[in-house]
Amino acid sequence: MDKERQEIIIAIVAGTITLLTIGAFMIFALFAYYRRRNKYLIETQQLQSQFQQTLLQTQLEIQEQTLHNISQEIHDNIGQVLSLTKLNLNTIDLRQPTTAQQKLDDSRKLVSKAIQDLRDLSKSLNSDYVTELGLLRAIEYELELVAKTGTLQTQLDVTGTPVRLDTQKELILFRIVQEAINNMLKHAEATLLTISVSYNNTGFHISIADNGKGFDNATATTDNKKTGLGLRNMHNRSRLIGAAVSITSAPGAGTTVAISLSY
Ligand SMILES: Nc1ncnc2c1ncn2[C@@H]1O[C@H](COP(=O)(O)OP(=O)(O)OP(=O)(O)O)[C@@H](O)[C@H]1O
Ligand SMILES: [Mg+2]
Repeated sequence: MDKERQEIIIAIVAGTITLLTIGAFMIFALFAYYRRRNKYLIETQQLQSQFQQTLLQTQLEIQEQTLHNISQEIHDNIGQVLSLTKLNLNTIDLRQPTTAQQKLDDSRKLVSKAIQDLRDLSKSLNSDYVTELGLLRAIEYELELVAKTGTLQTQLDVTGTPVRLDTQKELILFRIVQEAINNMLKHAEATLLTISVSYNNTGFHISIADNGKGFDNATATTDNKKTGLGLRNMHNRSRLIGAAVSITSAPGAGTTVAISLSY
């Protein structure tokens, strides 16, 4: 009888311990699950706010670059054209009708050119012009501005059917292209700039290549003194939108910046 009671007590204690263990395990698992979920939510929020910050910074940089382009365009092109027109008009001598007529015709052409240049410029004054025109047209426009400086030749090759990408991705990609062009103008001493854009079913690829003096890419990206923000931002920002960027360069062999993005 005693033995039977002892067995019952042991069974009850063992059952209680098992139940308690299962309960404790379930509480622990639930606790771990909520902790992981909270961590995931916090990380997602942090990534989102980091993305928004980068996007804002990108937009500010595009605006800054646009203002710089505009002031240069007004100074180098529109200002020059109008000064030339003024010179023409000032030197018109009505006693020499043929030359006067020629100068008037030249002035009319110059004023038309200034008007056209102003129209083009006003497009880029719109703060959303990349969003409105789309990445490809914005790149074309950027190249037109470079070509206008007359310091080097430019070429744009497009293959495949252009598709519009997500607006935020287009903004970031445009800023990367702008930085590559800026670097080329600032450092390369190139005579030719070629931009190739290709679209296919799975993704989008763009390369910005110059035939300038090139640089030692390994040192430029590891040596903090030699690295500006430009190359580092290119890498960080492309990673943020899931794009891959590669920079191929060597002293004397030009530079190619290649960006790929899967749809
Ligand atoms: N297309 C290029 N041709 C020759 N050298 C280049 C080219 N692009 C970059 N470099 C070299 O790589 C370095 C780093 O470029 P990065 O854009 O990071 O900095 P930066 O242009 O000097 O400064 P920032 O971009 O911050 O204004 C440059 O200082 C330059 O020596
Ligand atoms: Mg730079």
